[in-house]
Amino acid sequence: MAILSTPFRLFFTAAAAATSLLPSAFALQTLDLSQDFPVGNTDNPDAAAIEAMIDPSIYRLLVIDDGTIVMEYQADSVRDDDEAFHIHSATKPWSRLLIGMIIESPKYNLSMDDKLGDIFLEESAWELVTDETEREIKENITIYEMMTMTDGLMENWEAHPYFGENLAEWLEYYVINGTEKDSLVDIGNIFGVDIDTSDYRETSFIYLILENILSYVVREVTGMTPLDFASKEVFPFLGIDPEKPGFLWRPDWNGTQLFGSGMYLTARQMAKLPQLYLQKGYAAPDQSLVSDDFINASLSPISYSNFGQSSVGMLWWLLGDKDNDPDFPAMVVDPSLPGKIWCGSGMGGQQACLNHETGRVVVVQRNETIPSSQFSLTGAKESDILVIAAMSTDRSFTMSVVDASKSKENGGSDAEEEKEESEPMVGADDPMKEESGAAILGSMAAAVAVGGAALVAAIL
Ligand SMILES: *[C@@H]1O[C@H](CO)[C@@H](O)[C@H](O)[C@H]1NC(C)=O
Ligand SMILES: *[C@@H]1O[C@H](CO)[C@@H](O)[C@H](O)[C@H]1NC(C)=O
Ligand SMILES: *[C@@H]1O[C@H](CO)[C@@H](O)[C@H](O)[C@H]1NC(C)=O
Ligand SMILES: *[C@@H]1O[C@H](CO)[C@@H](O)[C@H](O)[C@H]1NC(C)=O
Ligand SMILES: *[C@@H]1O[C@H](CO)[C@@H](O)[C@H](O)[C@H]1NC(C)=O
Ligand SMILES: *[C@@H]1O[C@H](CO)[C@@H](O)[C@H](O)[C@H]1NC(C)=O
Repeated sequence: MAILSTPFRLFFTAAAAATSLLPSAFALQTLDLSQDFPVGNTDNPDAAAIEAMIDPSIYRLLVIDDGTIVMEYQADSVRDDDEAFHIHSATKPWSRLLIGMIIESPKYNLSMDDKLGDIFLEESAWELVTDETEREIKENITIYEMMTMTDGLMENWEAHPYFGENLAEWLEYYVINGTEKDSLVDIGNIFGVDIDTSDYRETSFIYLILENILSYVVREVTGMTPLDFASKEVFPFLGIDPEKPGFLWRPDWNGTQLFGSGMYLTARQMAKLPQLYLQKGYAAPDQSLVSDDFINASLSPISYSNFGQSSVGMLWWLLGDKDNDPDFPAMVVDPSLPGKIWCGSGMGGQQACLNHETGRVVVVQRNETIPSSQFSLTGAKESDILVIAAMSTDRSFTMSVVDASKSKENGGSDAEEEKEESEPMVGADDPMKEESGAAILGSMAAAVAVGGAALVAAIL
């Protein structure tokens, strides 16, 4: 039985020993992230090699070395530098940062081990959860389980897609195995959930798109919506003005921002989060937003009983990790690249990635309706291959990946075939679109058949 990573557990249950993310050889400068990134010499061989990988689905591609922009591409179709695009599930690491900050703040009382039953004390919150056992299971769910998607909950697409006008409705919306709604166990089976394992809630990963109960945790504990909290405690330090046209973080019907999706940013704004993680949580030399320990915990691989090997931290995905994921196609693992690539990933190939050993950040924004960002039969998505190549500092490797991934020539050729799959998934991530639950489930099942559960999870 796989167990959760020990450093992660220790950090939140006991005083953590100071840890350092960065090897001493690499001394990263701590930028003031409230300012724009400085632009360096973009006329360099790396930039030229990466530019050769641009395919028609890409809106923006940004490469930042040690805090300085060394490559920046923006498609002609992008209206202007301020046009923000939906980052889909790449919203998740932003939301998780809020929870980390709340846990560490002396102003609030929240810990990773707190249970929903301790947090939501009002009876009205639970009024729609009428089954006693279901209620007890839900009250027992910890913040840690929700942050790692091991709480055993599933999204109830059948009953109420995008349902939720208040906390009570969200607490009802998420279903567990073993209730009257357990026909949904079939969804678990698609994802390979080992639901009969005695400690399935501890180690089984079930991907959730919206994760909205956590948004209400933010509200309950801070008295602020996720957007209000971020606007006060996060965005000003990262130079993001949520009042500026373009910025958007979609709320549910209640006015509470979705935890797992719905944020619209530019590539430069997206890059602030991985850069903050490179800077050990410092938004400026004297401005720590979150501790190095939280970042370390977020980026520590977790072993799930049902899901790959060590492939995801706190919803940061590990790409092309040759140590932990020997099955990852060798073609896209650069043998010369030190360390690991961690990415916040969203449907349609939205990526915000970092590599501690090289100090490089890579951000990609794509048009999710163009299929080069969808599954490929090599087992890796085109967007993953591109990121790994852009992270590489070995140009000969980059060029061979370009050849192998056929990205440029093939830009639109499979468009019609894949359209059917990708469109309902846009709906699945977009609560303002009225897609039927059945269509979404159908598309998920189809996608699983094509790409495997892990890839479905990564794409949303
Ligand atoms: C987190 O800290 C532990 C203990 O110092 C270390 O072994 C591990 O590599 C760190 N994780 C990351 C992602 O740097
Ligand atoms: C913090 O919350 C826990 C449980 O949620 C509670 O037992 C404890 O008394 C609270 N502490 C303070 C200082 O409010
Ligand atoms: C909830 O937690 C309590 C205390 O840890 C435990 O006794 C109880 O069995 C749990 N209930 C369920 C349904 O898991
Ligand atoms: C939003 O949700 C909160 C918490 O459940 C609730 O108190 C409030 O009435 C809701 N507001 C609206 C406009 O539905
Ligand atoms: C989950 O549901 C299946 C099918 O209804 C059942 O066999 C199994 O015992 C349930 N597992 C748990 C942990 O409730
Ligand atoms: C995204 O691609 C679709 C299909 O090719 C196209 O119609 C649409 O205009 C593109 N969106 C943007 C913003 O370029």
